[in-house]
Amino acid sequence: MTALIETVSVSKAYGSFVALDGVSLSVAAGELLSIVGPNGAGKTTLVNVLTGLLKPTSGTVRFKGEDIAGIGPVALAKRGMARAFQLVHIFPAMTVAQTIGVAVVSQASKSLRLFASVATDSALRSRVREVAAIFGLDTKLDTESRLLSQGEKKLLDIASAFALTPEVILLDEPTSGVSSGDKHGIMRTLMDAAKHAGVQAIILVEHDMNLVAEYSTRIIALKEGKVLADLPPDAFFKDPDIVAAVVGKLVGKMSQRAA
Ligand SMILES: Nc1ncnc2c1ncn2[C@@H]1O[C@H](COP(=O)(O)OP(=O)(O)OP(=O)(O)O)[C@@H](O)[C@H]1O
Ligand SMILES: [Mg+2]
Repeated sequence: MTALIETVSVSKAYGSFVALDGVSLSVAAGELLSIVGPNGAGKTTLVNVLTGLLKPTSGTVRFKGEDIAGIGPVALAKRGMARAFQLVHIFPAMTVAQTIGVAVVSQASKSLRLFASVATDSALRSRVREVAAIFGLDTKLDTESRLLSQGEKKLLDIASAFALTPEVILLDEPTSGVSSGDKHGIMRTLMDAAKHAGVQAIILVEHDMNLVAEYSTRIIALKEGKVLADLPPDAFFKDPDIVAAVVGKLVGKMSQRAA
């Protein structure tokens, strides 16, 4: 199967600090790849490299066979890859409708035909309403983003990425800062939306191992910038050393308590 995304020996250094060290991976259609690892392992750096925000120090990054090293998220979104951020990047004074509207318009500007189809106010509004409804935000269209709950802010961020109608979507901790009950709600909404929008692959950075176990088709564990494991979930969770390396502190505490 041809890879949608592929990296070959990608390294990224910040000055003398090596944040990614020889990372090779590939992601095919139909996959939900979770990237896991302790704080500082290089997960966000990897997502930044995969979305062309950061240029790797060495190695290659390809999306649909084309080199995308450092091309930037805007150019990449036009080619079909979109992302939501670990820290929500929404503008606090913009309403929900305006926030999604910006994404819809920027997506439409990819093609004249699409642009014509949302060029009227009412067409734009109806597309915005449609995207908002998928994420349960249709009753909040005129609410300023700053007034949304943390979970709603996350959903708005994801909705904006979806408005770009991506083939691949990258999500850096889409559920962080949200109560554990709401995490599954966000994940289910995300999975449904991806299915309906024809998203071919999802890359997810996630600390919550319950979510990782439930939704991933494959898991890549990073530690100190290196790929420690690249496994399907059943094999991943069967290996206590790998799990301990990823959730190190937690296992440490539990074993101390047991001792
Ligand atoms: N711009 C930067 N300049 C210097 N060092 C950086 C920079 N960005 C990240 N780092 C360092 O690179 C390492 C990897 O950071 P990264 O943000 O990729 O980790 P992460 O796995 O996403 O962690 P977390 O789980 O806490 O989000 C960290 O040690 C971090 O301090
Ligand atoms: Mg991070």
